[in-house]
Amino acid sequence: MLARSNHLRNLGKTISFVPTMGYLHEGHLSLMRLAKSMADLLVVSIFVNPTQFGPAEDLSTYPRNFERDQSLCRNEGVDILFYPTAAEMYGPRFQTFITLEQLPHHLCGISRPVFFKGVATVVTKLFHIVKPHTAVFGQKDYQQVRIIQQMVEDMDMDIQITSGPTVRETDGLAMSSRNAYLSASQRPSALTLYQAICQTKNFLESGLTDAKILIQKAANLILSFPDTSIDYIAICDPDSLEDMQTIDRPAVMALAVKVGKTRLIDNMMLSPR
Ligand code: PAJ
Repeated sequence: MLARSNHLRNLGKTISFVPTMGYLHEGHLSLMRLAKSMADLLVVSIFVNPTQFGPAEDLSTYPRNFERDQSLCRNEGVDILFYPTAAEMYGPRFQTFITLEQLPHHLCGISRPVFFKGVATVVTKLFHIVKPHTAVFGQKDYQQVRIIQQMVEDMDMDIQITSGPTVRETDGLAMSSRNAYLSASQRPSALTLYQAICQTKNFLESGLTDAKILIQKAANLILSFPDTSIDYIAICDPDSLEDMQTIDRPAVMALAVKVGKTRLIDNMMLSPR
């Protein structure tokens, strides 16, 4: 892959890049379409990155279907599909990690302490191998894209980062590879993340701007459905991810909820009237 990237760059070609962990859905494909329009060649990676999973998380059961992913990539006109093995990415001598000081201490970073260290490290490695001019990430993982943007800025990486909107099922559930874990009876509970965001927008529209009250109402809605437990519900500054008390300027509402054993996340920008 590195030899190919060097060759393409020497030919004067521009490269766009969409990193993924596979089990592709319409959300991933929308990022590919966006990325495709931004450069001469589109590279997609599929790598279920072991360093971003905690010991009690779902690395071994993470859904995989390489054949299907490969044909979806072909249909989208992906020029190069890069799918390294864990042994290729992390040799026995591997010992260098990228960590950020502040952004990972919020939202998902609290219950998943190794997650963003693994993400920042693997994305740096992928950037060095693929050598893209531009890379596209999904707003679905708001904190992730915020961390990548910060890392690129801090480390002077010459890569333009773009974020693509969250693609949802027709009922509003944010698409995720992990939705494959949900049983039919868990679907209504899974949908409460989106419903809680919509409810918050409606309350905000009617003039309620106190974050604590809005979060409590969102929690009440989610917990009224079976099999749900809340990891976090936050209304935070879009840049620093620090909690906000009052929605008197644009904010992000972000939430993580477990439905049975499946951990789901969602988020949306909120603006005061
Ligand atoms: P993965 O969960 O496979 O997601 C790959 C990319 O697709 C991410 O940028 C993610 O934000 C985006 N994405 C996921 N669901 C989406 C949806 N419903 N709408 C739009 N975009 C969506 O995120 C990762 O993999 C990994 O952490 C990775 C960045 C590849 C590093 O290992």
